[in-house]
Amino acid sequence: HLRVASSSLIPVGDPTLLLTTAGMVQFKPYFAGDTTPPSLRLTSSQKSFRTPDIDIVGDATHNTMFEMLGNFSIGDYFKEEAIAFALEFLTHNMGLPKDRLYATIYLDDDEARELWIQAGVPDERIFRFGDQDNWWGPAGLEGPCGPCSEIHYDGGAEKGCGPMLEPDALTALLREERDTGVEAVIQGCHPNCDCERFVELWNLVFMQFYQDPQRNRTPLPAPSVDTGLGLERMAAVLQGKSSVYETDLFWPIVEKACQLSGKTYGHDHETDYALRVVVEHARASSFLIGDGVVPGNEGRGYVLRRIIRRAIRYGRRLGLDQPFLAELA
Ligand code: ALA
Repeated sequence: HLRVASSSLIPVGDPTLLLTTAGMVQFKPYFAGDTTPPSLRLTSSQKSFRTPDIDIVGDATHNTMFEMLGNFSIGDYFKEEAIAFALEFLTHNMGLPKDRLYATIYLDDDEARELWIQAGVPDERIFRFGDQDNWWGPAGLEGPCGPCSEIHYDGGAEKGCGPMLEPDALTALLREERDTGVEAVIQGCHPNCDCERFVELWNLVFMQFYQDPQRNRTPLPAPSVDTGLGLERMAAVLQGKSSVYETDLFWPIVEKACQLSGKTYGHDHETDYALRVVVEHARASSFLIGDGVVPGNEGRGYVLRRIIRRAIRYGRRLGLDQPFLAELA
């Protein structure tokens, strides 16, 4: 794969997108066949920013800004190689045990199921999900999209909420939900469960369609692959940490916030929450400002303003206004 530098958090030539949300954003014209890529196989570590979760940042798992590692096939390899490459990277290069890896696939994607089994992930660790979890894209109002297959890391039954649901039982419930439109009641643990057992590590998108602003889908010039592996989550798994904040990517900022506020991390929920908000938003604001965003009343400037204001609000709860005022004076 040809290594491509991260593009800016400000997307170029895409008026439908406020901020770069994924590795594939800078490659949209390649997937669509509008421009010729420098190679049919690309790889990057892309600064990405997502706004939907801003109000819950501060919990252990959600971030606004993260770095997304990815490999991309522009009409070159497809599902079989994408699955094999991801498994090889996680087990051989990262050293994760294969029996800790679960796969999720799109509800009707029998081909992906066969390929995961062929690659050594047994049927009982393959779960099917619908549009909400296993269909990706487009990024923005139009662009490439397709069914996806995710790799989840199992942190161990002791972190879970109870016995695992049988994959076939879940499939039956979700198919019924799709047919009837009545939301399924799911009981039992599974890779997309809200408990702390599983971490979604890597999303493999099998790009097959271009969706226009009216939501019409037409086939792409060639089936393609877009993948996203969260650097921060990968670090948490490799470093054996229960959240990204305890990894070496965030911990120095946590320590700085503790030093400025005189608080300690890991003793009470409210303080930890506030520290995480300050840390995440400080890091994210720095990246946005570094890419040229300035606080403002609309668009991406408003996103930046919103996270700075939110960090200040939580910073006050930590007493951070006092030392800051003293330092400024
Ligand atoms: N573009 C895909 C994602 O963001 C890989 O999950």
